[in-house]
Amino acid sequence: MDKKVTVSPVQLEGDTNITQRRHDWAKANLGAQSIEAINADARLFLHQSVSTPCLSAVVKAEGVWIEDIEGRRYLDFHGNNVHHIGYGHPRLKKAISRQMDDLPFAPRRFACHPATELASKLVEISPGNLSKMLFTTGGSDAVEVALKLARAATGRHKTISFWDAFHGAGFGAASIGGEQLFRSHAIGPLLSGSEHVAPFACYRCPYGYPENDGKPDIDLCKLTCANMVRYVLEKEGDVAAVIAEPARAVPYIPPPGFWQEIRRACNEHGALLIFDEIPTGLGKTGAMFACDHDQVEPDILVMGKALGGGILPLAAVLAQPELDIAGDYAFGHYTHEKNPVSARAGLTTIEIIEDEDLVQNAATTGKWTIDRLNEMKQRQKVIGDIRGRGFLIGIELVKSREDKEPATELAEDVLYRCLDNGLSFKTTMGNTLTLTPPLITDREQMQSALQTIEDAIAASSRAMGLQ
Ligand SMILES: Cc1ncc(COP(=O)(O)O)c(C=O)c1O
Repeated sequence: MDKKVTVSPVQLEGDTNITQRRHDWAKANLGAQSIEAINADARLFLHQSVSTPCLSAVVKAEGVWIEDIEGRRYLDFHGNNVHHIGYGHPRLKKAISRQMDDLPFAPRRFACHPATELASKLVEISPGNLSKMLFTTGGSDAVEVALKLARAATGRHKTISFWDAFHGAGFGAASIGGEQLFRSHAIGPLLSGSEHVAPFACYRCPYGYPENDGKPDIDLCKLTCANMVRYVLEKEGDVAAVIAEPARAVPYIPPPGFWQEIRRACNEHGALLIFDEIPTGLGKTGAMFACDHDQVEPDILVMGKALGGGILPLAAVLAQPELDIAGDYAFGHYTHEKNPVSARAGLTTIEIIEDEDLVQNAATTGKWTIDRLNEMKQRQKVIGDIRGRGFLIGIELVKSREDKEPATELAEDVLYRCLDNGLSFKTTMGNTLTLTPPLITDREQMQSALQTIEDAIAASSRAMGLQ
């Protein structure tokens, strides 16, 4: 069969697996066992950017650590945002095991206690009055349910979402997503009516407004990014929903007042507001939900990733009670939607987050970290911007602060140097080191990670003549 994909997408969502630097790192670092493991993976799995062929092979994950097949340990500041409570939390493993003994599965037509207990807990901790829900096994599926619900509730089908966003791999989620890797060229027509606008991104304002140390000058920009959402809502006139991450995982934090303005615009134009909190939910940003910082309540909130405690796949769509309007249809109906073992994992994960005060740790240790990074920015002139909240942190590297040319090769080199020194994270948008540590990370671990990063930035920028 002819190979049909002819146009290569921009490789900026994460650190990609096709660069020379990756090749060089693999050659220098992988021993026979790793090579055998990743070759087996590459033989069997469809190749895709940012996964197969893989970086290396892991055999153990515990607390903040992952360990590769050759016994090298990495502080995992990536973890796909599933590892809020650390890997393999003993209390979670016990709860899962007990649940497997009591009730390992529940066919959908039966109610079961773990599912209703988790649902009640989510009502308790989620913002405002989000009190009806469905569970799915992955975030992308939860996004699909949210889109269906918005269509059914409004009688409209259009959406507004952000360029550069990721919302999952399904057709609906890929349609509202804004990254080439996941939506363009190869897979053909996506959902019609998926309108996109430029996102808030104060350091690189798409509307060209200047920033001051990464902060917007609201008097000058007058929240043009929010006004554009209002503009499209008005012009289209029949938009079902605005869907976005309240804090972008790239990361970017919204300018003050952004979400209040969008909430008002949605209300005025009859559109729902859907927050995708799949990576940020359950405390990543130092509040239980990222939208808590903005005090804006969505009509629908989607969460996942850490909900399964880093062991089981689980996601949820939470909605306002008045959206319970489609009882004659079935918008979810996933085989494992009320799986008691997954539900027990979700409930126990939230209990661990509460009992160990992990949201507070993300808030305080996160703030401490961002303060330290701002000091590092004074010393390392390739750091253009430090941004984030809690344990969602970005370090954007530039060739010069004046023209902000992205230092993509430098960022990649820093990543591999950090891996050499036992720290794993991912790069986003090509030149942003993105740190998403587990919420259990303490100051000592953070301090050691920061030292590793600064050493790598200094060595890389020296080697590339950027100091
Ligand atoms: C913001 C956001 N939405 C949705 C998803 C999709 O979740 P899943 O991979 O569980 O389908 C992701 C995953 O990375 C995400 O970061």
